[in-house]
Amino acid sequence: MLGTGDGRAVPVYRSVFADSRIYGCDMSAASLRRHDSGTPVVQISGDGPLPFAGRTIGVVLASFVFHFSVPVPLLAELPRILRVGGALVATVYGPQTPSLIRLLRAARMELVGMRQVRDVHGHFVFTAQPTDA
Ligand SMILES: C[S@@+](CC[C@H](N)C(=O)[O-])C[C@H]1O[C@@H](n2cnc3c(N)ncnc32)[C@H](O)[C@@H]1O
Repeated sequence: MLGTGDGRAVPVYRSVFADSRIYGCDMSAASLRRHDSGTPVVQISGDGPLPFAGRTIGVVLASFVFHFSVPVPLLAELPRILRVGGALVATVYGPQTPSLIRLLRAARMELVGMRQVRDVHGHFVFTAQPTDA
């Protein structure tokens, strides 16, 4: 999870990805200190390398993070760490498609899906994959 915060969303993801190992990554040490989900947490710089080996991560989840700054160098780590067929799944407050596509493209990612979250006005979830996977 990229921008895992205090981990309150972890139980939801655990119920969906029951057989997966989940890592909570965030740049905020304070948020990670409040994390009590039982999932391993990793403090990251917020704009730099992600401490995962190449092609080891199946899905990067980022809920309610993209309204903060997600810099290109951070996002550009995803094509390296994602397994073949892996994806970024993230929420945004509006489709913001042109600016999101530009951001993703700069990180060698492409938008492959975007839809409104059912029954939650103004919230969208998108999926992106490495351009040259
Ligand atoms: C609104 S909270 C959402 C927390 C969690 N994803 C959830 O759904 O409950 C946003 C979190 O993203 C983190 N964040 C924002 N930008 C980040 C970045 N560039 N790198 C790492 N974490 C980031 C913040 O520190 C914060 O903990």
